[in-house]
Amino acid sequence: MADSRPLADDFLGHLWPPFTQMAGLEPTIMERADGAVVYDTEGHAYIDAFASLWTVNVGHGRKEIFDAIAAQAEKLAVYHIFQIGNVPSIRLAAKVAEHLPGDLNHVFLTLGGGESVETAVKMARQYWRNKGQGAKYMVMYRDRSYHGTTMTATSAQGLPMNRARFEPLLPGFIKLGAPYCYRCAWSQTYGECDMECARAVEREIAFYGAENVGTMLGETMIGTGGVIPPPPEYWPMVCRTCKDSDVLVVNDEVITGFGRSGTWFGFEQFGSDPDLVTMAKGLSSGYLPLGAVGARDHVFDAFLGGPAEAFMSGATYDGHPLCSAAGLANLEIIERENLVERCREVGSYMQEGLATLLAHPIVGDVRGVGLVAGIEYVADKATKEWFPPAVGAAAKVRDEAFRRGVFVRLLGGGHCHAVAPPFIITTEQIDQIVRVLDESIATVEKQLGY
Ligand SMILES: Cc1ncc(COP(=O)(O)O)c(C=O)c1O
Repeated sequence: MADSRPLADDFLGHLWPPFTQMAGLEPTIMERADGAVVYDTEGHAYIDAFASLWTVNVGHGRKEIFDAIAAQAEKLAVYHIFQIGNVPSIRLAAKVAEHLPGDLNHVFLTLGGGESVETAVKMARQYWRNKGQGAKYMVMYRDRSYHGTTMTATSAQGLPMNRARFEPLLPGFIKLGAPYCYRCAWSQTYGECDMECARAVEREIAFYGAENVGTMLGETMIGTGGVIPPPPEYWPMVCRTCKDSDVLVVNDEVITGFGRSGTWFGFEQFGSDPDLVTMAKGLSSGYLPLGAVGARDHVFDAFLGGPAEAFMSGATYDGHPLCSAAGLANLEIIERENLVERCREVGSYMQEGLATLLAHPIVGDVRGVGLVAGIEYVADKATKEWFPPAVGAAAKVRDEAFRRGVFVRLLGGGHCHAVAPPFIITTEQIDQIVRVLDESIATVEKQLGY
């Protein structure tokens, strides 16, 4: 076992990790992993109930992926794809296109989710310029959205704590209310409402003018904002409005892409019809950094012509041969082992198990699809009042669960945590997650005097 003292000193002294307050941090250092279990340097085992960061969908320790990376490294470890190709990036693009429905035939490779969103927004802006409608630069996004941390993604950020400190952000971003039925921004009740959340798109386009609005960007299912599946009417209504007003729809599938919601892509299940699709995470299960943007024929065709029409964006490592080889091997595992179907089946089992937590007085809502769920904590179930940040009930539950060997991640502005394990999770491991959360919630309730 590694000596963790000097490692912890080096961590605190030198590593500056993302989204982390270093003052007072008590480091946990992960050392190895297998399947759905990750082990720290002290030898403690944790069920990885968040799949790293909703990423390692095929599970940890997949030799097929290591072998594919090694074999590619022997042949061609490094080569760019600026006006040129390399074998794995071509094969990967074709494989992704094979799984994307309709005429989403064109795949731009990136190195992650934020870069994919950045690329999709730039693609949309240049698309409108190439079509002689450069004024259509405005981008609609939603409350509670999370699209990454680049300046574009931050400008489309719907969680205040992730955007306010970076102002001024980019101009031309229009915020819409979220399709969040548990806390409807229009104080409506789903089933009796007029789908104000979807109608907001039409209203904002009318307000700013269809000649100025070019893009609607939305996670097919809001993830970091609290795991919020939209009502079934939402995306069909939004897409209809966008088509009528000549607005491109960009679905962010960085979490839902490649099976997590129980279909290959979330938009297939939620009735959306995007022009552009952003992907990452499940594309390589995180074995190497990888992302992509899928584009429909009509988008791609707008970039054909001379040098002025070409998409003038990209980065050194886009289409990297090793990352592409990892992505291909990962997708082959998902196909061979029918992991999307498995995600759907095991996902129903997980959703049923987690729904039992609603019996707790501080659990306000449990929601999700496939193998992704969000649990929202409230101080009062009747009023849905949140706990004050200083109480941090969701964080307390997370910490209790971690002590008991289950890793879940806080999100939704600190009032929720998510459960999103690898697709190879067993039903016994799901039972353990539910049992540990049940005990952890009961412990926190006791501490808080419920
Ligand atoms: C929906 C969504 N889009 C984009 C991103 C950003 O991805 P990355 O962290 O790879 O930049 C994330 C990350 O969690 C995400 O959930």
